[in-house]
Amino acid sequence: MAPSESFKVPSSILIVGSGVFGLSTAWSLCKNPLFENTSITLVDRQPFPCPDGSSIDTSRIVRPDYADAAYTSLASSAQALWRTTFAPSFYHENGLCITASGLEQTYVSSSYDNVCALGSCRVQKLKNEEEIKQVCGTERASGTVGYVNWSSGWADAEGSMCWLCKQVEARNRVHFITDTVKKLVIDHSTNTVAGVQLTSNTTLTAALTILAAGAWTPSLLDLRGIAKATGQVLIYLPLTSTEQAHLGSLPTILNLSTGLFAIPPSHNLLKIARHGYGYTNPVTIPHPTSTNSSETITISLPHTHIDNRTQCVPSEGLTSCLSFLSHIHPTLSTRSIQSSRICWYTDTPTGDFLITHHPTFKGLFVATGGSGHAFKFLPVIGDKIVECVMGRTPDEFKGRWEWPEKRVSDEEWVGDGSRGGPVGMVLQEETEKGALERGSKL
Ligand SMILES: Cc1cc2nc3c(=O)[nH]c(=O)nc-3n(C[C@H](O)[C@H](O)[C@H](O)COP(=O)(O)OP(=O)(O)OC[C@H]3O[C@@H](n4cnc5c(N)ncnc54)[C@H](O)[C@@H]3O)c2cc1C
Ligand SMILES: *[C@@H]1O[C@H](CO)[C@@H](O)[C@H](O)[C@H]1NC(C)=O
Ligand SMILES: *[C@@H]1O[C@H](CO)[C@@H](O)[C@H](O)[C@H]1NC(C)=O
Ligand SMILES: *[C@@H]1O[C@H](CO)[C@@H](O)[C@H](O)[C@H]1NC(C)=O
Ligand SMILES: *[C@@H]1O[C@H](CO)[C@@H](O)[C@H](O)[C@H]1NC(C)=O
Ligand SMILES: *[C@@H]1O[C@H](CO)[C@@H](O)[C@H](O)[C@H]1NC(C)=O
Ligand SMILES: *[C@@H]1O[C@H](CO)[C@@H](O)[C@H](O)[C@H]1NC(C)=O
Repeated sequence: MAPSESFKVPSSILIVGSGVFGLSTAWSLCKNPLFENTSITLVDRQPFPCPDGSSIDTSRIVRPDYADAAYTSLASSAQALWRTTFAPSFYHENGLCITASGLEQTYVSSSYDNVCALGSCRVQKLKNEEEIKQVCGTERASGTVGYVNWSSGWADAEGSMCWLCKQVEARNRVHFITDTVKKLVIDHSTNTVAGVQLTSNTTLTAALTILAAGAWTPSLLDLRGIAKATGQVLIYLPLTSTEQAHLGSLPTILNLSTGLFAIPPSHNLLKIARHGYGYTNPVTIPHPTSTNSSETITISLPHTHIDNRTQCVPSEGLTSCLSFLSHIHPTLSTRSIQSSRICWYTDTPTGDFLITHHPTFKGLFVATGGSGHAFKFLPVIGDKIVECVMGRTPDEFKGRWEWPEKRVSDEEWVGDGSRGGPVGMVLQEETEKGALERGSKL
């Protein structure tokens, strides 16, 4: 796509963050002839693959059935690549089974009807517990009604990110640096970002800086009312090879009422997680871009096992995952979990991504706001980000990915309607109520 008339190709681009948003941007830039003379640097606080990054995990669901047409169409184009040339062998099309027991029944039945009205897709309605059990291969059904979409799948997240990193390295265009960005270097007299300052006190300069620091982005730029970190619980249960062989080919199971889901196991590990409102972790930090050194902001930021090696998942979250497990696989529920983790979403008020030039700081671009659903777009999101860099935001995402006109107070965040589970939890409060050691037994 041709850039907008006012766009000048930057002589140097610095990307902060090597997750889905940052790495895919680097890849797209090095494939695009327009940027052949641009020097590209990618800095991350951790060596690749980042051990506590949201993009690095055993598995992520790849499904194009959004309620929203723009994301559905983008996800379909991503899925076409997952199925063919992108990270072959890391994508598996096992199907996705969505179930509900209560009010959501109506939602499940009506989305099913919508889909079938469209015709040909491989969707099978599950009318009762027996059918759910049979399709999901579970000992007990995860609801009373549901459907399975055999056209959905999942990707080995770490595997496909490593595959992409190799593609980027092979182009020999991107300079990788491991260091923590302390802050943006801003010339306040001209409102221009000239690069970043690292913990080592070195400065990296660039004509364009792209912040793609995931859930940490709000520590580098004031995103109050625009994006915030929310912590989500995951547990991993060890399986025998026989169990792996049995469960590995079955669909992902998602309980819409609770947001709990189980992705088919890989490498003898069954993952259970909750797509929920999550935990916030409020901290007060110096205002990241203010000239007044005593100004502070209070925001939610990630707190991970890198910050605290003995970090424990609140027992509220573990109990929730384990009760899902014991409901669907009672015979597995007495087994000790192998590990647990809190993984951080970068939530936005509507669940839309934030992919935009900064409205006042020249030389600054932001690519974040994954809102718990960006992974599936890995094959295509970098190209979209580069289009936005060139001033060509896709029409269907205008006013959605762009810098919002106003900041939205926490109570008014509507989300995308996909979350389940409890609302308004604070990580420290929940941890103080009780936490279970990683690997401990209930
Ligand atoms: C538990 C969980 C389940 C999910 N499930 C799905 C799913 O099933 N399907 C789906 O499509 N999506 C899913 N997602 C969402 C998807 O994984 C994320 O939207 C996506 O990975 C976000 O990528 P990112 O690049 O924004 O963040 P990250 O991958 O976290 O990357 C940000 C990087 O920035 C670096 N960084 C941060 N601060 C600094 C700094 N100051 N200096 C230098 N580097 C810095 C970090 O080290 C990190 O590597 C899930 C997310 C989670 C957490
Ligand atoms: C890159 O630099 C070369 C050599 O100066 C020049 O011929 C080419 O047109 C430049 N490419 C772009 C896209 O500007
Ligand atoms: C099922 O998957 C297909 C193809 O991936 C998609 O187009 C469709 O919208 C999905 N439908 C539902 C209800 O999941
Ligand atoms: C799914 O959620 C509903 C509503 O909370 C609950 O009644 C049902 O038991 C859940 N199923 C599983 C398997 O947890
Ligand atoms: C960087 O500079 C700050 C402030 O000048 C100083 O406190 C810190 O020790 C320096 N760090 C390194 C690694 O030199
Ligand atoms: C700097 O910030 C502090 C704390 O918010 C405030 O009290 C003070 O008035 C500010 N100073 C200036 C010059 O704006
Ligand atoms: C690390 O986490 C453990 C368990 O939650 C807690 O007891 C401990 O105080 C934490 N340590 C720090 C330095 O935060």
